[in-house]
Amino acid sequence: MSLVRCLLLAGITLGTNLLAQPSGPGQKDDWWKHAVIYEIYPRSFQDSNGDGIGDINGITSRLDYLHDLGVGAIWITPMYPSPGVDYGYDISNYTALDPEYGTMADFDHMVAEAKQRGIRVIMDYVINHTSDQSPWFIESRSSRTNPKRDWYIWRDGKGPGLPPNNWQSWFGHSAWTYDEKTGQWYYHYFYKQQPDLNWRNPEVEKAMSDVLRFWMDKGVDGFRIDAVSRLFEDPNLHDDPYRPGYNAYGDRNIEHKYTDNYPEVNDVLKRLRKVVGKYPGDPVLITEADEPNITELTKLYGQGDEVQLPMDFQIADLNKLSAPDFRLLFDQVENNTAHGQPELFFSNHDQRRQWDRYGDGVHNDEIAKLMAALLLTTRGTPQMYYGEEIGMRTTDPARIEDVHDPIGKLGWPKEKGRDGERTPMQWDNSPNSGFTTSPKPWLPIPPSAATYNVETEKKDPNSIFNAYKTLLALRQSEPALRDGSYQALDEENPYVFSFIRVREGSTVLVSLNMSAEPRTISVKGLKGTTAGPLYSSPASGDEAIPLDKIQLAPFGVLVAKVQ
Ligand code: GLC
Repeated sequence: MSLVRCLLLAGITLGTNLLAQPSGPGQKDDWWKHAVIYEIYPRSFQDSNGDGIGDINGITSRLDYLHDLGVGAIWITPMYPSPGVDYGYDISNYTALDPEYGTMADFDHMVAEAKQRGIRVIMDYVINHTSDQSPWFIESRSSRTNPKRDWYIWRDGKGPGLPPNNWQSWFGHSAWTYDEKTGQWYYHYFYKQQPDLNWRNPEVEKAMSDVLRFWMDKGVDGFRIDAVSRLFEDPNLHDDPYRPGYNAYGDRNIEHKYTDNYPEVNDVLKRLRKVVGKYPGDPVLITEADEPNITELTKLYGQGDEVQLPMDFQIADLNKLSAPDFRLLFDQVENNTAHGQPELFFSNHDQRRQWDRYGDGVHNDEIAKLMAALLLTTRGTPQMYYGEEIGMRTTDPARIEDVHDPIGKLGWPKEKGRDGERTPMQWDNSPNSGFTTSPKPWLPIPPSAATYNVETEKKDPNSIFNAYKTLLALRQSEPALRDGSYQALDEENPYVFSFIRVREGSTVLVSLNMSAEPRTISVKGLKGTTAGPLYSSPASGDEAIPLDKIQLAPFGVLVAKVQ
């Protein structure tokens, strides 16, 4: 057991922020409803040793920055030993760290330092598949009778050279790879170097539960479970139905009908929750599952006994700035029948950055601030992606020769891969943006770093960075924003998305103009006649605004207290 965990169990705190944290089993403060989660792609966040690759000590050196920004938890994408085919999502050892990121001592130090600042640490938990270099898979493929053979999905082909069925990998082509030595095919939802584990084998679940215990004992606060809807497949291997057309890899489009969302996923989640639930501090489980609708997403809460935070891909995948569409999706998730907490995000290491995804090419900075307000003033748990607070943009490689992500190599030019959203953090306007001292960062620094960087934006009161900082602070200081209920207003308005957050008589109104024209709105039915601005974009004065005449600039934002 780690020092941090021992101290926590003994009720001894390491810093002032810990005083507010629960310290024993059974005590629940739902910290995961209040914390803003910040996703760190470690390779690109901060390099501490000059090799051009971000690392653990780099993260530790930036904890003060995260604390000042107002972040309550960090989710770090995989840092485990990995051949790196899928940049860490192909894991060969789940209870160690890849030396390229640092040592276990570095990790323990980072966790202790994070706790001192009241920042929780969430690990990535990749359980659908391992690397083909995992000792488990090496054993499994060694012979048909190896005890670990059944840890993976091995099947006979339909005939010579023919895979067992037509299932496709998410990353292109057949989801089956033939193994010469044992004459069978193994299944992989993702790259062929990522064989799927067989979750119907209890030994697999046991091994993966031990992984949870290992990291919980090290003092982490929860897990983001990767690709969870893909854990089970049809045991009868039915062919998936085809859809019209072809994908970026030149394969026929397919519906992943027989490889996704089996109800056994929910049983596994219940058991995993029990494993982490034995630890103090209300550890959190977050799922990555791009559920097709709110009904499927709601199932992931179970009866409050599965995951606390299923990521909402319905909202994240809405690729247009539309008040009616956002209103509908927010209403749906707010009213989910499990009464579960929404988990909201707009960008991540697989998802193109929001600055350009929602930007119209003219008002992108205003839109970045509007998206910040949407993320940080609604009721769900917000999840940010490193660099969104400075308006980092997606910067794709210019040539196929420069692509790192294998899906970019395979799908070029239709699919350029995910390098564009994984470029190094832009800390300052020095040649390597303060990310590394190496002349060769693993991905190039985007040209936008000259003006969009932490140091420059800190000095500009109207920067995207300062919009995030203000809104993050407001979320903590205004009880209605921190804990209040949510209700949409002015619901027929096609351009402006308005809602209130209410707590104990205090009402905060949020109006977001999702159009390129100025708009004037009138909000009715509230206890009050005016609103006192807490935040507005563009910045306005403090004067109270009449509720029947709220003027909003193109893509303007008002967050105001009804009085
Ligand atoms: C998840 C990860 C993604 C990875 C895939 C396979 O979707 O977010 O980055 O490539 O799983 O592990």
